[in-house]
Amino acid sequence: MKNSDTNKELKKLVGTAAAGLIESGMTCGIGTGSTVAFLIEELGQRIRDEGLEITGVPTSFQSKILCRKYGIKVKDLQDCTELDLAIDGADEVDPELNAIKGGGAAHTLEKIVAAMAKKFVIIVDESKLVPELGTTFPIPVEIIPSALSFVTATVKEWGGESQLRMGLRKDGPVVSDNGQFIIDLKFKPGTDLRKIDAQLRQLPGVVETGLFYDLAKQVLVGSAKDMSVKTLERKQ
Ligand code: 5RP
Repeated sequence: MKNSDTNKELKKLVGTAAAGLIESGMTCGIGTGSTVAFLIEELGQRIRDEGLEITGVPTSFQSKILCRKYGIKVKDLQDCTELDLAIDGADEVDPELNAIKGGGAAHTLEKIVAAMAKKFVIIVDESKLVPELGTTFPIPVEIIPSALSFVTATVKEWGGESQLRMGLRKDGPVVSDNGQFIIDLKFKPGTDLRKIDAQLRQLPGVVETGLFYDLAKQVLVGSAKDMSVKTLERKQ
């Protein structure tokens, strides 16, 4: 499972750089996680220093609390139809800029925000770049609790393994901001995960998967070499 404390300097580098993409007047989707926390902090700094005027649409309680702490005006996702930009972290990114997200169990709202944005940008440290999705990180799937046995058994039939995500400093399963369970799935290398994604989304009880195909237009990568930020663009 993810460790939010790793590569903090690179996360800060890339999170801070990403704040530069946001212009006054924009309404922006704000993702979730330790990299995004640095983005929010820098936006707070720009609001104080430059009088930047933006509206943030947070994808979790964590991000909403941080936005309020740093003076970013927030709007409910429910009240939005389109966003100028969305910026979010990821757990893995492949060479086509597809991603696995949901290490923080926030991927359902994160995917809605990514789909609503004119431009969706992912921010990661270089350890998140992988040749193939599923290399280092399982696939988080949000399900309604009553579907647990059914989805687990179906995933097993497809050759996958499923684990119910358990809380840390909380007894029992993780309950998402939407009141649902999270299962983490593993498949053999070389499995067609795009197909698995489509199949999962057909299953009753599945709310959303953490596979983000064809959504990111750009990925900013914090690289330890020269402590620089590289920009990867999606090929059309
Ligand atoms: C939350 C996410 C996060 O963006 C992802 O887990 C990356 O987090 P971090 O920046 O802490 O490594 O998808 O659901």
